[in-house]
Amino acid sequence: MTAPLLKCEELSVRFNIKGGSLHAVESLSFSVGRGECVGIVGESGSGKTQSCMALMGLLPRNGAATGSVRFRGQEILNAPRKAMDRIRGDSIGMVFQDSMAGLTPFMRIGEQLCEALVEHKGMNNAQARARALEVLDILQFPQPKRRFGMYPHELSGGMRQRVMIALALACKPDLIIADEPTTALDITIQAQILEFMAGLKRHTDTAIIMITHDFGVAAELCDRVIVMYAGRMVESGNVADIFDRPQHPYTQALLRATPRLDSDPDAGLPLIPGRPPDLQHLPAGCSFADRCTQVMARCRTERPPLMPAFDAHLSACFRNGQS
Ligand SMILES: Nc1ncnc2c1ncn2[C@@H]1O[C@H](COP(=O)(O)OP(=O)(O)O)[C@@H](O)[C@H]1O
Ligand SMILES: [Mg+2]
Repeated sequence: MTAPLLKCEELSVRFNIKGGSLHAVESLSFSVGRGECVGIVGESGSGKTQSCMALMGLLPRNGAATGSVRFRGQEILNAPRKAMDRIRGDSIGMVFQDSMAGLTPFMRIGEQLCEALVEHKGMNNAQARARALEVLDILQFPQPKRRFGMYPHELSGGMRQRVMIALALACKPDLIIADEPTTALDITIQAQILEFMAGLKRHTDTAIIMITHDFGVAAELCDRVIVMYAGRMVESGNVADIFDRPQHPYTQALLRATPRLDSDPDAGLPLIPGRPPDLQHLPAGCSFADRCTQVMARCRTERPPLMPAFDAHLSACFRNGQS
């Protein structure tokens, strides 16, 4: 078996906050193979973004990461800044939820794209311009030549998102980390961008980590899905198994809360009653116990570890295999 492209082991993230600290991510282990798309799903605050920030060396100042992250066999967790800058531009591309956060506001979009290519791929200006226009064209960015000289704020949200994807893709990275890349966009543009990501998966060897709170997005794009709750992985498996035989009550509840394709998109998400626990005061037992409809006495005192439910499917629930 060849080594995975990315292997994350026991990744934990802690933040120092006023009067203490909190565990935003705890003992997260997963890997991503070449060309594979792994989805990370979970409600807001479950640790999806900070897991990826940690592995990219982009945690906020008050955060610290422990564990191990190997990329192409090389340890990158807490690697020197220079090394991470190179990997980020060259081998791992990132797309953020907020396109303004991923772009430099005072630089024309053409300059930003070309700069990345000159810096990371050693292209000259003409080569960089040609490649940048080519990528924008692939992304069906309207009138790329005319818009090359525009600043990010002059573009619509959908166009800005495409520029950020172009920036992430231009250097032909091995891995793209997309953090809710379509959340802020209207439905039509969301669909176009997802279609594009699906095409990228079909036609290239680019691996994708897709962070989303939307199971529909995961279903469309991902080979495997990781479900996170209160900083921990509670379930992971092949996408078909996650949908057809979800094991963890949290995954089951999330799936029930996912609107069906034929339902009214404006009806709003039926929420799971209750709230996630305070990360500063996590309960001794299962973090989901207070919201779980299948809770047992044991769940309040003992934390269920991740266990194989079947095949390579993992779930952190004492009821594994019983549902
Ligand atoms: N700079 C920070 N200081 C303290 N806590 C933080 C900081 N950034 C994020 N967190 C906390 O870490 C947890 C996980 O956040 P995040 O990874 O952004 O969640 P998600 O992406 O799943 O919505 C949240 O509870 C959030 O409040
Ligand atoms: Mg997030």
